[in-house]
Amino acid sequence: RYLMSRGGPLAGRKVVVTAGGTQEPIDPVRLITNRSSGKQGTAVAQAALDAGAEVTLVSTPTGLAVPAGAKLVCVKTAQEMLDAVLAEAADADVLIMAAAVADFRPIPAAQKLKKAAGIPQIQFEATADILAAVAERRAATGFPRRSIGFAAESQDLLQNAQSKLERKHLDLMVANDISAADAGFEVDTNRVVLLFPDGRQQPLPMQEKAGVAEAIVQQVIAWG
Ligand code: CTP
Ligand code: CA
Repeated sequence: RYLMSRGGPLAGRKVVVTAGGTQEPIDPVRLITNRSSGKQGTAVAQAALDAGAEVTLVSTPTGLAVPAGAKLVCVKTAQEMLDAVLAEAADADVLIMAAAVADFRPIPAAQKLKKAAGIPQIQFEATADILAAVAERRAATGFPRRSIGFAAESQDLLQNAQSKLERKHLDLMVANDISAADAGFEVDTNRVVLLFPDGRQQPLPMQEKAGVAEAIVQQVIAWG
């Protein structure tokens, strides 16, 4: 961790970023995922590297290039992401949860579901809330020192995002209105509002995901 000495405002800091949508198996050949492209999280990893941080990117398979210099931890399921995040955040300064984590997972069938057996009745169970688990861990250990969440909402953006910030004990919530065509899933641009624990709201202009990433990293730098 200290072998490669680099300059920049986040030199010597460890930043863990999650990216992509989790993949939850239904059976050995099928899965449930979501529309997250991994672009915003990967851009945040790049921006943190550019600021000189040591960066671990915990990502589902996105097809995106891994930012040069990041440590990649490949995961698929919400459970794998939880395990990786708890391990990596144990000595991290900042956790940034840009990933879209499944809230429910199918109880997977051991064998491939056969068409002839008819329409399957898939049973779901809840996944763990990673940020909630991180908040518990942090209360006990002090690590990660800070955590940042994303909230993609299709309605009541600011209210929903602010209550998630409180519920998940975040230092910053990046609220993302996915009802607009130029923001959110798959596209290269994003329009977000930064929400702070004191209730302050900072809307950012619609811009490239790289620009949103830089604004988030600026906030990390401001924490010192
Ligand atoms: N998140 C998480 N673990 C989960 C689900 C979400 O850590 N099992 C994180 C996401 O990575 C994101 C933040 O929590 O940073 C908010 O995710 P979101 O899906 O908006 O919130 P939920 O609490 O799952 O609420 P809902 O989906 O019902 O809106
Ligand atoms: Ca959710």
